[in-house]
Amino acid sequence: MKPLYRLYTGLLRRQLKGLPMPQHVAIAMDGNRRWARGEGYDDVRIGHRFGAEHLEFFLNWCADAGIRCVTAWVASPSNLRKRDADQVDYLMNLTETVLADHVRRDHRWRLHVAGQLDLLPDSTARALKEAVEATRDRSDAGDLTIAIAYSGRLEVVDAVRSVLDSAAADGRSLAQVADELTEEEISRHLYVPGLPDTDLVIRTSGELRMSDFLLWQATRSEIEFCDLYWPAFREVDLLRALRTYGRRRLQRSS
Ligand code: IPE
Ligand code: MG
Repeated sequence: MKPLYRLYTGLLRRQLKGLPMPQHVAIAMDGNRRWARGEGYDDVRIGHRFGAEHLEFFLNWCADAGIRCVTAWVASPSNLRKRDADQVDYLMNLTETVLADHVRRDHRWRLHVAGQLDLLPDSTARALKEAVEATRDRSDAGDLTIAIAYSGRLEVVDAVRSVLDSAAADGRSLAQVADELTEEEISRHLYVPGLPDTDLVIRTSGELRMSDFLLWQATRSEIEFCDLYWPAFREVDLLRALRTYGRRRLQRSS
């Protein structure tokens, strides 16, 4: 690490002391192909490899900063549908090897998966489910959710569908469900129930939109837009986002 960078990291860490911290941070891992082109790689899949490997660093920085709940968005359903097969195959392979393997090795995290898993190849869905099982009993671990084949809108549709399915199984009438439906009931049927709402959403690669990332969970989140492509995102960028978050929350509560 360069000396100036280390100094700046230390300064940011000190500035965070006493500021409110987010409990749940979500990040969109976007801009991998643009990063690869910018670095002079002809094969944009190299960007996806760097991007997948980069999550390990990000998780370490979060753990160091005391953040114990992270959601990382890997791909949307339309990414998977519209992209060339070789790119999707490669991305799935990275998910099985780099992402799932890393969480199995890193005992600080318990894995959850959010998204339309039936859109994934069987081997990818299986590797993720196995990693979820393998990490389930880590009682002291933080919660990492991989959002893959994930759409915020479809998550709400799936949650409502699941509310209706379980109401039918319990013999409740539609009129009864309509009458009794609450936010809490829908929350209990999200892909990963029981997590706190997100407090901070970090959108990488200069995009100023939510792009169908978390909708239900992010309604009260601060949003931090960052110009860097995901593989170039550094610890100082996380710490700056945390500082902005802390200052905004402090201002609002005063
Ligand atoms: C995001 O990176 C990861 C996905 C597979 C969706 P991209 O592949 O979208 O990279 P850019 O945004 O085109 O640079
Ligand atoms: Mg993109």
